[in-house]
Amino acid sequence: MADWKRVAAASEVLEGAPLLVVVEGEDIALFRVKNDVFATDDLCTHAEASLVEGDQEGFIITCPRHGGQFDIRTGAPKHFPVFSPIRTYLVRVEDNDVYINV
Ligand code: FES
Repeated sequence: MADWKRVAAASEVLEGAPLLVVVEGEDIALFRVKNDVFATDDLCTHAEASLVEGDQEGFIITCPRHGGQFDIRTGAPKHFPVFSPIRTYLVRVEDNDVYINV
């Protein structure tokens, strides 16, 4: 069953400037690409690094620590040295509110 939680104002999520939110103790990264918002786990699956501190270009986030890359739409690893995907969350934007399905 869907469990939607409001996590941010949509106006806070800016393209190229990922936003960290904490939901039920989990660090979650929010990304904007044009009118769409995406949510993934913040922690890189390679080692201890926060993805919101990385560089976002379109649908790709580059980890700040070793340069691994993920597709924020699917969580799929896209560049060495990451091999495991990051978790993604369903996102809903209503008016100025961002909800994720946790
Ligand atoms: S910690 Fe992210 S690529 Fe190594």
